[in-house]
Amino acid sequence: MDDDALSDNRRLWDRWTEINAGSDFYDVASFRDGRRPIRLADYEREEIGPVEVKTLLHLQCHFGLDTLSWARLGARVTGADFSEAGIAMARELATEVDLPATFVIANLYDLPTALDGEFDIVYTSRGVLGWLPDLDGWARVAAHFVKPGGFFYITEIHPVAQVFEGEGVKPGELRLIYPYWSHQESLRFDVKGSYADPTASTDGLVEHGWNHSLGEMVTALIDAGLRIDFLHEFDFVEWPVEFLVDGGDGRWRLPPGTKGELPLFFSVKATKPLIG
Ligand SMILES: C[S@@+](CC[C@H](N)C(=O)[O-])C[C@H]1O[C@@H](n2cnc3c(N)ncnc32)[C@H](O)[C@@H]1O
Repeated sequence: MDDDALSDNRRLWDRWTEINAGSDFYDVASFRDGRRPIRLADYEREEIGPVEVKTLLHLQCHFGLDTLSWARLGARVTGADFSEAGIAMARELATEVDLPATFVIANLYDLPTALDGEFDIVYTSRGVLGWLPDLDGWARVAAHFVKPGGFFYITEIHPVAQVFEGEGVKPGELRLIYPYWSHQESLRFDVKGSYADPTASTDGLVEHGWNHSLGEMVTALIDAGLRIDFLHEFDFVEWPVEFLVDGGDGRWRLPPGTKGELPLFFSVKATKPLIG
């Protein structure tokens, strides 16, 4: 990965951690005081099943809200992220809510040199793949940490939803402008605020992103030695998107009355076969 792009993205995530941690979108206060003790979607809890006493590694864990939600459900959790600010906040939060958790700072591609062990579940979710230039390398890292007989799980925005203009468009206005398949050169944007607080100041910060197709992602997981158990597609995104409308349930969908359909989110579970 290009070092400049990596540093730009890390700088951005350090600042976004500060902004996001104080935002209504994440509402950390309700996680702390137990009003909203679990910040996970119902479908992912169902698809993953019981996690009690299982070891769970959360890749790209941000400041640990989802990681600690799994801990509240009984998993023995480890979270990893390249943002020092994110991991510092995750450790602080774990102490405050008195949950055991290990948090590791590392670029995703370097994680096998920073962390030992294999896990029953390797989990990653919501806004992760677009930061990664190399999907095959990502899949190898994910598979590396799955115990034989254990599984990898991802829930993420659908790559089809990533090809449309997301700024200055109206609900239902689908303007095809971005690549669907993996590309070498990053998509570079000047950042305005954070997805959790668009009004926050982020002057001078830039973002580098990469799109990847669904087929490339599934093939990368298979090539890394995992067996796909399911691939589910959903008709919503779990954060605001300008060409969608707010369903009032924490999900954004195509406007009512839209002709035709689009997949907007997906989940994949993939098992590492037992050897021998
Ligand atoms: C949208 S967050 C996903 C976390 C979770 N869905 C949430 O909302 O709390 C994306 C995370 O990817 C991390 N990230 C981006 N590029 C990375 C890289 N190369 N290595 C490790 N982490 C990375 C960022 O620091 C950020 O915490």
